[in-house]
Amino acid sequence: MAETNGGTGSGPATGALYQRFVGPLLQSDVGADAEQLSRLTLLALGQAALRRRWPLVSGSLAGLAGELQHRDARLEQTLFGCRFANPVGLAAGFDKNGVAAAIWDCFGFGFAELGTVTWHGQPGNPRPRLFRLAAERAALNRMGFNNDGAQALRRTLERQQLQPPGQRPAVLGINLGKSKITPLELAPDDYASSLELLAPLADYAVINVSSPNTPGLRELQDEVLLRRLVERLRRLPACPPLLVKIAPDLEDDAIDAIARLAYEEGLAGVIAVNTSIDRLGLVGRILPQTGQTLAQEMGGLSGRPLRRRALEVVRRLRAAAGPALPLVGVGGIDSPEAAWERISAGASLVQLYTGWIYEGPQLVPAILEGLLQQLDRHGLRTIGEAVGSGLPWR
Ligand code: FNR
Repeated sequence: MAETNGGTGSGPATGALYQRFVGPLLQSDVGADAEQLSRLTLLALGQAALRRRWPLVSGSLAGLAGELQHRDARLEQTLFGCRFANPVGLAAGFDKNGVAAAIWDCFGFGFAELGTVTWHGQPGNPRPRLFRLAAERAALNRMGFNNDGAQALRRTLERQQLQPPGQRPAVLGINLGKSKITPLELAPDDYASSLELLAPLADYAVINVSSPNTPGLRELQDEVLLRRLVERLRRLPACPPLLVKIAPDLEDDAIDAIARLAYEEGLAGVIAVNTSIDRLGLVGRILPQTGQTLAQEMGGLSGRPLRRRALEVVRRLRAAAGPALPLVGVGGIDSPEAAWERISAGASLVQLYTGWIYEGPQLVPAILEGLLQQLDRHGLRTIGEAVGSGLPWR
């Protein structure tokens, strides 16, 4: 049965507040610093997660959930042993240190991917390293896996007293990367150290071999190196379902090779895509903060300009791997239509980052409502029937 929650009736809805107070800050490339805004948001959310049982905090979170959650059995799926309440998740990179792990479900997400975490905590690249491209509804980032490290993530999650994997309102994935100081040859041990420590807390884990901001990392997408890495991780005594996250800049035959490898190695799924080193038609775009063009700036592009390529990669993976391999579509999803298009192309789940920042928290329920409407219009019973159906938005 559909259960559409309205607002709490106790004041202006979060979506409206976001549009009113945060929206204007996002209209311009300059002004409010993008990284600082994220940092402050996470500071507040981290406190809320730790104190979520305090009456005032629990009341606020219940209000948020009432407004943003959209429970409906037609949106549920079980994939690689995890039960997803809905197919919309928070993409990796926003909650790198897992500070808000306990409350992402209150934002309506069916799952959240924490990290990227590396074995060694590291500061990332010098600032500024995150830039808004407001007119294009895009971002350029070269954060470089700034995070507190796997041990800190474990402590942060333990402090929140999460329910065990399988019993949480939102599925929690942990996205793993290579520490900058670890040479590429030793990458398998570096990832394995993190995974061994974090496996008991993860519903699923992601091998991130696609960030453009760690030198050499994307070479691990090579078939031989990736196979070695996957085999190393699967030897761990308790390995959660493993997914690989890939770049949008791979050639078609490299995408096919990943699909093959995923099948042969029994991977739980593939997440497509990370940010792009292609300038996606924006080579001459000047960043006001630096006065340089995008062609001259390092970093990965995300947001609306990535939508078309991200969709192509999902199509290619689906064609190569068939329906048995779960795909997670991410890149440029900022509307119900974009989410439907990705699911229809073969993604069982979708993730949001840049679009969620620009559109605000109401994007999640808007997408879920849009997906349900499409199911009705196409006479489908569940979201699983829409996956890879090729059905258009209508
Ligand atoms: C990211 N992304 C990312 N991905 C990842 O696997 N590990 C990470 O640490 C990060 N960090 C990160 C930081 C910032 C500031 C951004 C904008 C993005 C990539 C993200 O998860 C996603 O794959 C892309 O951003 C494409 O999706 P959107 O943003 O177009 O919805």
